[in-house]
Amino acid sequence: MGVMRIGHVSVKVMDVEAAMKHYVNVVGMDVTHRDSDGTTYLKCWDEWDKYSVVLIPSDRAMLHHIAYKVETEADLDVLGKRVRDAGVEVTEVPAGQLPFCGRSVRFRLPSAQTMYLYAQKEFLGKDVGVKNPDPWPDTKHGIGAHWLDHCLILGELDPEKGINRVEETFRLLTDALDFHLSERIMAGPNYSVMAGAFMFRSCKPHDIAIVGAPTNGFHHLSFFLDDWKDVLLAGDILSKNRTRIELLPSRHGITRGETVYFYDPSGIRNETFAGLGYQAYPDMPVITWTEDELARAIFYTSREWVESFSTAYIPV
Ligand SMILES: [Fe+2]
Repeated sequence: MGVMRIGHVSVKVMDVEAAMKHYVNVVGMDVTHRDSDGTTYLKCWDEWDKYSVVLIPSDRAMLHHIAYKVETEADLDVLGKRVRDAGVEVTEVPAGQLPFCGRSVRFRLPSAQTMYLYAQKEFLGKDVGVKNPDPWPDTKHGIGAHWLDHCLILGELDPEKGINRVEETFRLLTDALDFHLSERIMAGPNYSVMAGAFMFRSCKPHDIAIVGAPTNGFHHLSFFLDDWKDVLLAGDILSKNRTRIELLPSRHGITRGETVYFYDPSGIRNETFAGLGYQAYPDMPVITWTEDELARAIFYTSREWVESFSTAYIPV
């Protein structure tokens, strides 16, 4: 099987108490552990592992790392070797160093984000349990996100200097880790430059995506909701909480997902995302969006570019 899904995103935040309140009261997560330094671990009600978001106190907002869960311990050896064979330095990390996880492997993507692969994380279970479960728990609060769905990272793109970290990271993820390409953004002369890649390991339109930017960075983490009605309701909850909204509830062209974008108190972009859009399989023909249709690709409903979408992101 190899990589199954996103496991967690670990970010540095400027006010960890404010960040914790946001992810609990607005996103609807629960705190599952706090370290003495304030580092906070959270999970969604429909997740079963100990955490999917880690908030680390800091004086600036930054990505610490992203982590993907593989199916077996043996996958760590196989995939670690394949990443190493691709010319990327891989560190074997002993159990426990990634908190509440078994052993893992760590490396930097060509676009500079630190990525971990792990096979085991402490199990807590879904809030509804597994025996004759209700569809949602009475403890559901805030937006009540089901689970961390995907993340979007940024890769330096400067074709004139021959720099394309988007394509390099796409190659590593697809060649070494067996991600499949669902959709891509092509730019430049004859649309020959890969400026965005949306990739999956499950049957979702994407489990990770990378888009070109002036510098490497981290764009957003996204949480899954059931349907459009829940995205609209998320908009209500964001407004109730005076959360800074970047994009009102609308639809993406890419992935067909229904979406609302907003920021946590440190300026880290969140998305709640609904609708599987379509089922992705490895033999699905790759969808191509050309640069001239980029506003429609991302902001399908308005077809108007939201300026902050390409200018606001956090460093890695
Ligand atoms: Fe997204």
